[in-house]
Amino acid sequence: MSDPILDPTFDPAARDRGGPAQPLLSVTGLVKHFGGKRSWRGGEAKGAVRAVDGVDFAIAKGETLGVVGESGCGKSTTARLVMQIIKPDAGEIVFDGEAVGSRALDLEAYRREVQMVFQDSYASLNPRLTVEDTIAFGPRVHGVPRREATGRAHDLLAKVGLEPGRFAGRYPHELSGGQRQRINIARALALQPRLVILDEAVSALDKSVEAQVLNLLLDLKAELGLTYMFISHDLNVVRFMADRVMVMYLGKVAEVGPSDVILQQPSHPYTGALLASMPSTDPDNRTLEAPLFGDPPNPIDPPSGCRFHTRCRHTSAICANVPPPLAAVRPSHEVACLMAQPGSGHPLAAPLRENAA
Ligand SMILES: Nc1ncnc2c1ncn2[C@@H]1O[C@H](COP(=O)(O)OP(=O)(O)OP(=O)(O)O)[C@@H](O)[C@H]1O
Ligand SMILES: [Mg+2]
Repeated sequence: MSDPILDPTFDPAARDRGGPAQPLLSVTGLVKHFGGKRSWRGGEAKGAVRAVDGVDFAIAKGETLGVVGESGCGKSTTARLVMQIIKPDAGEIVFDGEAVGSRALDLEAYRREVQMVFQDSYASLNPRLTVEDTIAFGPRVHGVPRREATGRAHDLLAKVGLEPGRFAGRYPHELSGGQRQRINIARALALQPRLVILDEAVSALDKSVEAQVLNLLLDLKAELGLTYMFISHDLNVVRFMADRVMVMYLGKVAEVGPSDVILQQPSHPYTGALLASMPSTDPDNRTLEAPLFGDPPNPIDPPSGCRFHTRCRHTSAICANVPPPLAAVRPSHEVACLMAQPGSGHPLAAPLRENAA
């Protein structure tokens, strides 16, 4: 079988197993708690940070899933779990129909298919490696001969908009932030991944540079048939990049659906509050929700019931008691809010529809 890393002419589409209807990535019941003391009786650890606490989502082939939510809600932990940098306490990750870690898709094979770009462009680069050696490093480790790996690094430099003749021999400290982030993108692409996770990848850049790198990411995605998981604090950037958006709150998914719906007519009060908290560029498009005040509660001891009930202006007694399931409100739009669920008992929920007699 042809190896995508060793064979430069390998067509990424040839790796597709289940066709377009099968999600590229599908995650169910993902849990990660940090620290805490476990009793000798077993059971749940006390005092653990419930960073990711039962998260389900899927990413379709060729789409960009935006991930938003306040600092500490578990975005990066979710990304690191998907990348298998850290081990989940529970949950299953399926990549193009194969369970990650199964015989059909072992960790080594999976790790080539998924690459990540982080916010801190400087810390992610080895200061003693030139740009071309940085990009060629991954392919070299996977057995690509030096000359070919260097050739591939030069091609990738050109792809990310840096002239190979000028940049190949430079060191990270000789580059601007935007140029360094282009190198990080080139390095991520060197192993010909199918899924790229971008964790605040443009957040440290100046606005004009940020726009250039975002456009580069869109071009690369179209050219190479990539799928993105795009994590960002900036809802305007997410609006520009993402096909669908997943909103996280205290380690759980609050709402997920098409970007235009989520970012214009959100169903979850938390999404509405996030939107109301951001500086609006369009005065006609403000939500009626009150903006967010204060910080999210402590993830060591999250509120009972709906985790957002302590900050929600629509909260009702039931919200402190009943955790809302993530349920579809319309096709491909899911919301974890009792108000969105007919017959839930929340005063603002629609009544259950009578069975047609
Ligand atoms: N290695 C760790 N050990 C202990 N706690 C951790 C660890 N990594 C993350 N956490 C905690 O888990 C929670 C989720 O963190 P995470 O970094 O996933 O949030 P985030 O949504 O990426 O936030 P930000 O927007 O600030 O990047 C936070 O309370 C964080 O302090
Ligand atoms: Mg983060």
